Amino acid sequence: MCGIFGCILDGGDRAAPIIHSALNQLEYRGYDSVGEATIHSGHLYVKKDVGKISEVHSSVNLDDMPGSVGIGHTRWATHGAPTQKNAHPHTDCQEKIALVHNGIIQNFAELRKELEGRGHLFKSNTDTEVMPHLIEDYFKEGLSFSESVRRALLRVKGSYAIAAISVDDPNTIICARKESPLVIGVGKSANYLASDIPAFLPMTKMVLFLEEEEMAVLKRDEVTIFNIGSGDQTKRDPMRIEWTVEMAQKGGKPHFMLKEIAEQPLALQNALRGELIYYNLMATILAKARNIILLACGTSSHACIVATYLFSKLAHVNSSVSIASEFMEQFGNSVDEGTVVLAVSQSGETADTLSAIRSAKDKGATILGITNVMGSSLTRLASVYIGQNSGPEIAVAATKTFTSQVLILSKLAIALAEKRGTIRSDEIDSLMTDLGRIPWYVKKELESNDEKIKRLAAKYRDRFSFCFLGRGLNVATALEGRLKLLELAYTPSLAYSAGESKHGFIALVNENYPVIFIAPNDDLKSRLIGNIMEMKARGADIIAITEEKDKELQTLADDWIEVPKGINPLFTPIVYAIPLQLFAYHVSVMRGHDPDRPRNLAKSVTVE
Ligand code: G6P
Repeated sequence: MCGIFGCILDGGDRAAPIIHSALNQLEYRGYDSVGEATIHSGHLYVKKDVGKISEVHSSVNLDDMPGSVGIGHTRWATHGAPTQKNAHPHTDCQEKIALVHNGIIQNFAELRKELEGRGHLFKSNTDTEVMPHLIEDYFKEGLSFSESVRRALLRVKGSYAIAAISVDDPNTIICARKESPLVIGVGKSANYLASDIPAFLPMTKMVLFLEEEEMAVLKRDEVTIFNIGSGDQTKRDPMRIEWTVEMAQKGGKPHFMLKEIAEQPLALQNALRGELIYYNLMATILAKARNIILLACGTSSHACIVATYLFSKLAHVNSSVSIASEFMEQFGNSVDEGTVVLAVSQSGETADTLSAIRSAKDKGATILGITNVMGSSLTRLASVYIGQNSGPEIAVAATKTFTSQVLILSKLAIALAEKRGTIRSDEIDSLMTDLGRIPWYVKKELESNDEKIKRLAAKYRDRFSFCFLGRGLNVATALEGRLKLLELAYTPSLAYSAGESKHGFIALVNENYPVIFIAPNDDLKSRLIGNIMEMKARGADIIAITEEKDKELQTLADDWIEVPKGINPLFTPIVYAIPLQLFAYHVSVMRGHDPDRPRNLAKSVTVE
């Protein structure tokens, strides 16, 4: 997730200071590097560098650029490390076209090869840079600037929100979107575009929402919208938005957590886009390992638990999870050159995780990493890493970064199974198809469940304690549901493997004790029903997360939340975790807490 902005102002007004202040409003979308480009008197001016906006501004003065037309970008690195040359805007060979991008271009490697074959010179390692070069070629063929952009977009696969300017068409900005957000602000003799409304809210409240696969041509006095595929024009009137900047940053939602929960279909889609080459590399290293340890803290450790089940089920590989602060005590003496440590950390900066990695490295272990922050310490310590592409997560409790980690680890398990030859190639294809459908299931689930979960939260909000039970992979889902509830609602909660609950937890159960069962329609269901009966017999209130219309479970439960039918049982933790995120969120709000900033907790714990 990055932030993009563009403005075309009245001739006398300078774009650069407006871009700079707009980027400040978008910094929550990414903050590893920043850049601006403007056009003035037939020249393209570009300033960009690594660092937060304030740092870059104090070294290069982002306000001091001529011209009333310009674009800007605040970056959250996906392809290419956070460096000066990888910062946006990116330009064509002749430095006449500048472009900013939020999203991921999947086929950039083949496009780059093709363009280099035609003599184009690339200056960065980003996926984005193929676009200005493609536009340059179409423009040379004699097409208009907007048609050149449209043709370039037809060549790229993946997700994008882009804005482009050209010295050959200096009174125009072209912008377009596919799967990444983009909105247009309609002003008086001035127009704006941005990833998100807060960027232009001080200038205008009139908003035009671009739909999927649409592009817009911005002039000072008009905005024209086209369908990218057909090139046909579409008419749409702007709407007036009454949001404050703070409301707009939260996408109109009351909290970042709710916004981030809602972003999961897109975050998962972006997680799926990670390049296969890194999965193959990791799978090769894991396949040779004598000993595999998954290392993490908090929510990330729950993603690791899911991975141990999948590594075994699909690739017949044994692995263990170590909570980073316990790693050296638990495994220190058995770590050696044959050990592969797969560290999972959203921030890539958790002190316990980094310290465990350093100790493992000293003992000769190979380090692999999964993280959401490119350029973080984890990316520097790991031999191979995979970026989550979730975009920044502001709420302290991990939501979209958790489900993305589980999805990436699931894809890695499939790659490992392929490498080890433990499943047939047709099974691999069908697993990849099932995994590819997960963002769609999540979208469907989010559309239908929120009101029901809110009602359940209202009913159960004042219970003293909860217990979450699951079996198989969904033991991890139970642990994650428990963690969300206790950290956000401050409700003492337990989580167990349902089978283990009779060895302890059952002593606590009495009338109306709420027990939440993660109950997909899989091979373990009949045994889970046995556990439900045990709890019911002692008067517990049963809340079940079930598949849609699972009457067998729903007749046993006091309350239930339905999840769409048809999800491959191996990938259920991703979809079944989401009602638990929403439940914890609503209980927290109803109990008067701030779910974005739970007391005593931090987003990234950088002390051991
Ligand atoms: C903190 C956060 C958790 C997170 C954990 C691990 O405790 O509050 O949400 O799961 O750190 O963070 P990491 O960045 O390493 O995934």
